[in-house]
Amino acid sequence: MTVQHDTRTRPELAAALRESVYLPTMTLGAYQRRIAEAGPLLPSLLDFERPGADAALRALADTVTEFDSDGTGRGDSYRRAQRTTMVRWTGMRQILRLASPPASSHAGTVLDVLGGDGTIARAVSRAADATLGHMSVLTGDVSGTMVERALEQGLPAVRQSADFLFLRDGAVDATLLAYGTHHIAPRDRPAAVAEAVRVTRAGGRVLLHDFDESSPMARFFTEVVHPCSTAGHDYRHFSRPSLTALFDGAGIPASVHDLYDPLTVTADSEERARQDMCDHLRDMYGIRAFFDGHEDIRDAWNSLVRYFDHTDYLAATRLRDPESVPSAPVIRRRGNRYVAEVPRVALLAVGRTPPRT
Ligand SMILES: C[S@@+](CC[C@H](N)C(=O)[O-])C[C@H]1O[C@@H](n2cnc3c(N)ncnc32)[C@H](O)[C@@H]1O
Repeated sequence: MTVQHDTRTRPELAAALRESVYLPTMTLGAYQRRIAEAGPLLPSLLDFERPGADAALRALADTVTEFDSDGTGRGDSYRRAQRTTMVRWTGMRQILRLASPPASSHAGTVLDVLGGDGTIARAVSRAADATLGHMSVLTGDVSGTMVERALEQGLPAVRQSADFLFLRDGAVDATLLAYGTHHIAPRDRPAAVAEAVRVTRAGGRVLLHDFDESSPMARFFTEVVHPCSTAGHDYRHFSRPSLTALFDGAGIPASVHDLYDPLTVTADSEERARQDMCDHLRDMYGIRAFFDGHEDIRDAWNSLVRYFDHTDYLAATRLRDPESVPSAPVIRRRGNRYVAEVPRVALLAVGRTPPRT
């Protein structure tokens, strides 16, 4: 095979890249001008001329994902569900606290590699949680539509694939692969973790969140989301040994935790809380067909109670206080409000990047 070497000078290459399609309505040059308007920080973290960037940009231009729109899968309905931003805050808060340990004077910049249209960034700013200090979240995503929607909300965002990031070495204080890591193909996972390590400063944290293959959540994906959603859900989840091996392979040993990561919805009545939770699940997972297959909301809720029954799974986890969490979906009265809670237990690997030599 003949290898064609790029004979363009660096300025010629940069000029050509600026003309390339980057987001659905923006070239790379237009994107760079747009993020520069918000200040110099984000542009200073990015390098679109790093070796391989040209090929990565071409691959992105050809990439269509199920998260772009409902036409390609469940993008529009997923984003509609995330308008109620705090549904997963219990888990997100714990993840973010582990991304910035108490000893840090400030939380710094966290790259959310599978950030969608900025759910975690919005949740952090809405929660105004003092323990998260001055944390700022940089949203990444492979879907151009997701990134454009994040930018439209005034959030810093970058389109890139987890296995090839446009960030400079050591650009961020922590990197998070969460809420969808199973979407990264198993063959690309070592590169994704290696990239997370590369872009995280020395002594910073790399976190990977997903569900165990044996968890009720993985079963729900296989038995409900896969047959009921337009794009299906044929993805491999994780296990403790596979997480340990991924981090060992990237040269940073990780501790693997069980994380209580429920879905929580609050409403004025029990009926409303049940309905809102079902609507959220329908939109988030694109599973209208599942709900259409039930007589009514109570019937669907009873199915969810069976799918999300964590009794056996909880007994096998190392959660610090398993008795404090519900073993199946519940609706509880809190003051004059009603809280619907769907339990989920995730795996969370946390590694610390070594000092640079
Ligand atoms: C389940 S959504 C989660 C979005 C957001 N974190 C949230 O919690 O709402 C998963 C996201 O990962 C993105 N994604 C999938 N594969 C990716 C990859 N290889 N690199 C970067 N993003 C990816 C999808 O486009 C999608 O927006």
